[in-house]
Amino acid sequence: MNEEAEMKIVVLPGDGVGPEVAAEAVKCLELLSRHCGLGLRFETHDFGGAAIDAVGSSLPESTLAACKGADAVLMGAVGGPRWDERAEMPEVGLLRLRRELGLFANLRPARVIPGLESLSPLRADLAEGADVLVVRELTGGIYFGERRVEGETASDLCLYSRAEIERIAHIAFRAARGRRRRVTSVDKANVMATSKLWRRTVAEVAEDYPDVTLDHLYVDAAAMALVTNPRRFDVILTENMFGDILSDELSVIGGSIGLLGSASVGAAGPGLFEPIHGSAPDIAGLDIANPSGAIASAAMMLEELGLAPMGHILSEALQKTLLAGCRTADFGGNARCSEFGETVRESLRRRLARYDAHLELVTMNRGCCG
Ligand code: NAD
Ligand code: IPM
Ligand code: MN
Repeated sequence: MNEEAEMKIVVLPGDGVGPEVAAEAVKCLELLSRHCGLGLRFETHDFGGAAIDAVGSSLPESTLAACKGADAVLMGAVGGPRWDERAEMPEVGLLRLRRELGLFANLRPARVIPGLESLSPLRADLAEGADVLVVRELTGGIYFGERRVEGETASDLCLYSRAEIERIAHIAFRAARGRRRRVTSVDKANVMATSKLWRRTVAEVAEDYPDVTLDHLYVDAAAMALVTNPRRFDVILTENMFGDILSDELSVIGGSIGLLGSASVGAAGPGLFEPIHGSAPDIAGLDIANPSGAIASAAMMLEELGLAPMGHILSEALQKTLLAGCRTADFGGNARCSEFGETVRESLRRRLARYDAHLELVTMNRGCCG
């Protein structure tokens, strides 16, 4: 592999279970890269609480520069009680990174894997077939509005422009075209001005996509519908805060928050790939976290890098591992985080060997037939 063909992946392990789950994802990527000659090169940088401890800032300038110069960024998680009382919490670094990289679209796919309905806290007949993509606006809304504290009064400004809503809506409609062609826009238009603008704008964007069905739900009703009738959803398009909350709810429909990966994209530069869960301080350091979300994020990263077949192979290996009954503690099992990761890699090796044998056969046949 020559220098030009290398792809730089910046790894930000972060805090709590972040380093544990990120390590398993990186090992899967290393295996794939070695086997298929992908030329992935990994570079780890300080981020989050760990970076506060090391250099006094959750997003050191050197880390930001490395991310900007990368082909993709793979993250674990940030935050924890240890930094909760600080004026600049580790979470600030994450928000700044998303903003600096222009990652306005956060894609969070969730589904109940056929055959694993029993992992869902929902009745199997409700959970069966659920397959939802949350398209969450990631660089606007209340997360980035002005914050004020005056004595015992505090405020957070929620602000959205038409342009910000339009660009995320286009992402959702385009995604729906590759799925079941249905977008549910979630807002609180019975109360909030930003939501009224959101609903109007999304309806206008929908006119460009006559082949996609659009409906609107208030966020409270959407939270209910997710657990009473998850199959009614295909793509959920929503603002930053609602997307954060609903995606945690959605993740457990498949069985655990540990399952969900995400891709944050938008600008022409590198995307950020991270599980949706946090640093899970209650289980950090025990090697019992579920690394599925981090591995799923790595698979999304491969797709985004133009390596979709490798992404599919990794997703398949992950699914196979779950279907084979490998269970971490969140599912009441006793597979360690590292064991689960190794089982995914064993499945990956088997798949790659089968793939190679198949390729060899194709090449041989070509040879025979001229
Ligand atoms: P959390 O997602 O860390 O944990 C919620 C619950 O889910 C905990 O019981 C935890 O043990 C469990 N859990 C989470 N990930 C798991 C995994 N991979 N396997 C098994 N169980 C898992 O949410 P929280 O407790 O609200 O937040 C903890 C810290 O993480 C906070 O500082 C928060 O700000 C931060 N956080 C960071 C991110 C991020 O980095 N993207 C996301 C969410 C929360
Ligand atoms: C997430 C997290 C973050 C968010 C926090 C840690 C800032 O909950 O990625 O879902 O709210 O976006
Ligand atoms: Mn969240």
